[in-house]
Amino acid sequence: MCGITGFIGAGQALPFLMQGLAKLEYRGYDSAGITLVDEHGLYTCKTKGRLSELEALLRDVRCPQNCGIGHTRWATHGVPSQLNSHPHSNMKNTISLVHNGIIENYAVLKQELLAKGYQFTSETDTEIVVHLLDEHYYRDRLPMFEALLKTVHQLQGSFALCIVCTDEPDRIYVAKKESPMVLGRCESGTMCASDAPALLEYTKEILPLNDGEAAILKADSLEVYDFEGNPVPENWISFPYDVQSAQKGGYDSFMMKEIHEQPSVIRETLRGRFRGEMIYMQEIDRLHLDERDIRRIYYVACGTAYHACIYAVTQLSRYARCAVNAMPASEFRYGSPYLDEHTLCVFVSQSGETADTIAALKLAKSHHAVTTAVVNVLGSSMTRLADAVLYTCAGPEISVASTKAYTTQLVLLACLNVELADVMDWEMPGRREMIRDLQILPEAVEEVMGYESTMEQLSKLLKDQRDAYFIGRQLDYPSALEGALKLKEVSYVHADAYYAGELKHGPIALIEKDSVVVAMATQPEVAAKTVSNIEETIARGAQVILITTKDMPAEKFEHVLRLPNLCPDLAPITGAVLLQMFAYFTAELKGCDIDKPRNLAKSVTVE
Ligand code: M6R
Repeated sequence: MCGITGFIGAGQALPFLMQGLAKLEYRGYDSAGITLVDEHGLYTCKTKGRLSELEALLRDVRCPQNCGIGHTRWATHGVPSQLNSHPHSNMKNTISLVHNGIIENYAVLKQELLAKGYQFTSETDTEIVVHLLDEHYYRDRLPMFEALLKTVHQLQGSFALCIVCTDEPDRIYVAKKESPMVLGRCESGTMCASDAPALLEYTKEILPLNDGEAAILKADSLEVYDFEGNPVPENWISFPYDVQSAQKGGYDSFMMKEIHEQPSVIRETLRGRFRGEMIYMQEIDRLHLDERDIRRIYYVACGTAYHACIYAVTQLSRYARCAVNAMPASEFRYGSPYLDEHTLCVFVSQSGETADTIAALKLAKSHHAVTTAVVNVLGSSMTRLADAVLYTCAGPEISVASTKAYTTQLVLLACLNVELADVMDWEMPGRREMIRDLQILPEAVEEVMGYESTMEQLSKLLKDQRDAYFIGRQLDYPSALEGALKLKEVSYVHADAYYAGELKHGPIALIEKDSVVVAMATQPEVAAKTVSNIEETIARGAQVILITTKDMPAEKFEHVLRLPNLCPDLAPITGAVLLQMFAYFTAELKGCDIDKPRNLAKSVTVE
């Protein structure tokens, strides 16, 4: 996720670009840059770091230009650095562009451009776009807009693009596919951005571009076309939010916004991962696992990411022909785990900066174990330490409570487990169904969003309760752990998670009238047993919320939520969304500061 701004008007462009980038910093903040254009040429200024660093660089620079583009980056290809920052320019320094999205076929296009003599200065997927534009504009002699249309037809993946050119300093070219882009105009000029908050100080009349549309922005007009060059009707909307709520996408908190982002970030995480019936994970090819005689696998992390590890291990241990373990990093680092060159260690982290997980990773490396990091933040410490890196593409997660990072971790770990089965030649039951259903998972996650108002109602069960109990068996157990953690973290309601079969060995002593029990029963071979366990709690007066599948007989229970039909291994992903909403609405009911729970930090960089 990145943020883009563009302005062409009567006054200076820079003030609009900078205020817009500030409003979009929630979309990314590892580097920032601008290009201004006039009859004298392009002026580009960009830097690694937050927007304040760019502001410092520009403080004493005179910037009278009235056309320009800006970018705040959240790296996906190439670590955060000055060279990888946007805007990117062609070799003549006459065309400059910013991009939000991922160009899937950039590697192939890059090879073709290299063969034609184009030189690259960054590691980004974006730079190929500016060279393609250069090729069509200068070598094919197409007008710039036609060069843009020809270019977008060559790109696979997602993109929102803003382009300026020294030959036409009076206009900005824009194109959109699967990444957001909104346009606006007011008396002082015409503008565009990744999201409406960037425009709201200037106008509340917004034109969201649709996928497959391109636009030409001039100081006093704009024109919108489809990718074939046909004009398309403009559907302007009047934007109802103020700037602050618009940054949260109209939601009351980043947590709820991030819960709702899950269908799209899961789609991004899976982008390019399918090759027919195979999972494509070239990042781990370099580990040559098939030649290493792997004898044990550890999944290691902290907090929510550790629950993702328990999910991965529960799944993998059903078919792995070697020892498989999940461990909290804080225990792993002091517990003398058996580590050698036949050990594979997978470290999972949203931030890539968690102190205990980094220490565990260093320990594994010092014993010559093979290491892989599953991380969200590109270029973070773990990505520099591990032998191989897999990125969850969740975008920046602002809320302290992890939501979209967790579900993208589950998705990527499920893919990794398929890949491990293939590389190690282990027979994986349900492999075909898993690959089939992963491809419809974003829609299934979208479907469970429909339970939002039900979860809001159910959270009222906890209104006068101090405790809640989460239970599940097999793959439902990590869901129970995560549901309990989420509830504790944001609502301060004490919550515990148990294997459902363990309830009768002690915890059931706690159950009394109106105790709240959340039961996950999504795994066909054990769901009926979990349902028997909840009957035991109901007999003692508990109020039970049952999360199960569409075909589980459960008519006699009062609060039943049914997940979409997917292979059982993916139910913890759709189920997680309900548990996140349950925690969210409980916290709201109790008046908690949802995005910044007490005593917690987003990234725990101390032991
Ligand atoms: O950045 P990491 O994923 O390594 O962070 C690990 C935990 O600190 C984190 O998951 C924490 O438990 C979250 N606040 C849970 O919502």
